[in-house]
Amino acid sequence: MVGRLEGKVAIVTGGGSGFGTGIATKLVQEGAKVLISDLNEEAASKVSSSLGVEYLVANATKRSDWEALLKKAIDVFGGLDIIVNNAGTTYKNKPTETVTDEEFDLVFDVNVKSVYISTSVLLPYFLENNRPGVFIQIASTAGLRPRPGLTWYNASKAAVSNATKTMAVEYGPKKIRFNAVCPVVGSTGLTHLFIGKPDTEENRAAFVSTIPLGRGSTPKDVANAVAYLASDEAEFITGVNLEVDGGRCV
Ligand SMILES: NC(=O)c1ccc[n+]([C@@H]2O[C@H](COP(=O)([O-])OP(=O)(O)OC[C@H]3O[C@@H](n4cnc5c(N)ncnc54)[C@H](O)[C@@H]3O)[C@@H](O)[C@H]2O)c1
Repeated sequence: MVGRLEGKVAIVTGGGSGFGTGIATKLVQEGAKVLISDLNEEAASKVSSSLGVEYLVANATKRSDWEALLKKAIDVFGGLDIIVNNAGTTYKNKPTETVTDEEFDLVFDVNVKSVYISTSVLLPYFLENNRPGVFIQIASTAGLRPRPGLTWYNASKAAVSNATKTMAVEYGPKKIRFNAVCPVVGSTGLTHLFIGKPDTEENRAAFVSTIPLGRGSTPKDVANAVAYLASDEAEFITGVNLEVDGGRCV
């Protein structure tokens, strides 16, 4: 059976852990050639060998690292079609008046500036080559239905959702699509920070109690949504913030 992404080349940032690893796994299953990037070399190289994908240690907030990612995609795979801006971070859930300047800068750098730099570096490639492209941001329900204690994380994800919509209308005529996937709380490397306590079933219960389908999001849930949005089945879908949240945002 031919995968839905046969012949496509994808970059997945933050591919060394959590949702990013799930997304890379699914894109490979659908036939894509995948280049993952991560700050964490050990994690990225482990995922690279287990999935048979390429990897590059790259900081998603750095222009020169995005230039290197584009070069690698072209050198190794001959081009680029899909970008999944998944890398993200947060500070620990706490009263907003105690957030430091460093914590604010970190979430806006990693969550928002990364998307800005990715588009700044990659859009000229798509435009100059008259090539359709797909950008998928991993935003969050936090940007749509915020909870207390994570004001600036939530605001950074709202910025991602808004920028995704703006670029969807701006670049629609060039056949470059922009969508975001908005997961609800899952169980990944960031979860203990979101809930402000160790990531146990008990500590997650308060969050999960507000999710009609009764559980958190998994890497597989997020990856299935990304694969669909990346595929030609979604060729008429742009500017969407797809909630993968078991009904949390209703
Ligand atoms: N886990 C959740 O509950 C949840 C819910 C909604 C949205 N999200 C979003 O999902 C995305 C993935 O997070 P996750 O939950 O899988 O967390 P994770 O910590 O398991 O994975 C994030 C990965 O990104 C990498 N990374 C961090 N900063 C980077 C940078 N500057 N450049 C390159 N790589 C970097 C980390 O090394 C790590 O491997 C994030 O954008 C996060 O905000 C997570």
